[in-house]
Amino acid sequence: MDVGLAILVIGVAAAAAAFCLLLVGLVYSEAMNCDVPSGVESPTKLHAIHCFLVGMAMVGRILERLGLCDQSRLVRWLADRSLRRRGQRAGLRIKNATFAGVPVRVYEPTAASAGKRRGLVYFHGGGWVVGSLETVDDLCQYIAEKSEATVVSVSYRLAPEHRYPAHLDDCEAATRHFLTVAEASFGVDPRRVAVGGDSAGGNLAAALCQRLAKKENGHLLAPCAQVLIYPALQMADFSLPSYQQNHAVPLLLRGRMAFYFLHYLNGDMSVCQDVLEGRHVPAELMLRYRKWLSPDNLPAEFRARGFCQQTPPGHDGEVYHIIKAGLEPEVSPLLAEDDVVRSTPPAFILTCEYDVLRDDGILYAKRLKDLGVPVTWQHIPDGFHGIINFRKGWLSFPSAERALDSVVRYLENL
Ligand SMILES: *[C@@H]1O[C@H](CO)[C@@H](O)[C@H](O)[C@H]1NC(C)=O
Repeated sequence: MDVGLAILVIGVAAAAAAFCLLLVGLVYSEAMNCDVPSGVESPTKLHAIHCFLVGMAMVGRILERLGLCDQSRLVRWLADRSLRRRGQRAGLRIKNATFAGVPVRVYEPTAASAGKRRGLVYFHGGGWVVGSLETVDDLCQYIAEKSEATVVSVSYRLAPEHRYPAHLDDCEAATRHFLTVAEASFGVDPRRVAVGGDSAGGNLAAALCQRLAKKENGHLLAPCAQVLIYPALQMADFSLPSYQQNHAVPLLLRGRMAFYFLHYLNGDMSVCQDVLEGRHVPAELMLRYRKWLSPDNLPAEFRARGFCQQTPPGHDGEVYHIIKAGLEPEVSPLLAEDDVVRSTPPAFILTCEYDVLRDDGILYAKRLKDLGVPVTWQHIPDGFHGIINFRKGWLSFPSAERALDSVVRYLENL
């Protein structure tokens, strides 16, 4: 081998090694900034998952800087690959379809059914930015098989290519279509169809129930229940006890949640810090929201761990102007008027202790209950945001299956 080539090879190898070291260092420092509570089930596993995700996000950012690919595309691609289920459960018939122009996947149990089946229209999570039919394929198969309900998974449009209300419009169109054809095409009783989702999907399900309640006035078909799995329900207050207590707990850090809401709305990240600090809500609005968002509405045990009451910061009119639509109930369902909340269907709400969104779920459960809407509230004391995706293999958490089984039991009793 000639000397020039040898030097080149060594040079390239050294550069690659330096790059890997740098990446490992960056991932390590980032991962050390997070806080994995000892109360979480298997803290080491959660740390490992977080490091992997941080590493992937970094590689995405580097590739984007180099002009090689778009970060959100890469993250979506990876999420599809890592969560995709290989193969299909026995006892299910799975079809791709389009409902009112929206791509969906339908999971039908094949076991004989005494009467018409129950149904669930499901909206995947992923901060309105990532997630797909693939990321919840395994989840939907599990729910359909165990509950013997027909599950329709909806591939709504995502940010940053599409902004609010594209996501919600797609969920509405697909749900309405399914309710219309459920009986004739799928043998499903349209009066026993629930809508549901996790995280951002839970936000869409809650918002959709409110939207339909306003439009229908009880005349047309509407979902019979809302299944909200650690839903995001408001962007007025990022300092609720759960936001303070779990601000650095994977897989959803506090800053990330503001980032997702802003991506959903309009993509203006310049106001992210102001929103986190609460400068986006005018004093008179904050006063109105207090009756729904006050930490005093939470059971005392949720205020105990590392929470301090904060004095509201000054308000910035310009920031409010930019994020105004985010305080509308269609984006923040927890801030809807009583009349609207009261007319939504019975709810199942799942919350996790180590999740910034825990209090969104608890406060919405309280509002619904206070207004006479039946609520089944399931709390996972050692759970974290995203847990239901980790049910198999060496990165599994026993609570994940327990959480999902509570969803299945709820559906069985619709
Ligand atoms: C549905 O579409 C996906 C993605 O295009 C494909 O991988 C899958 O095999 C299809 N499923 C069925 C049952 O046709």
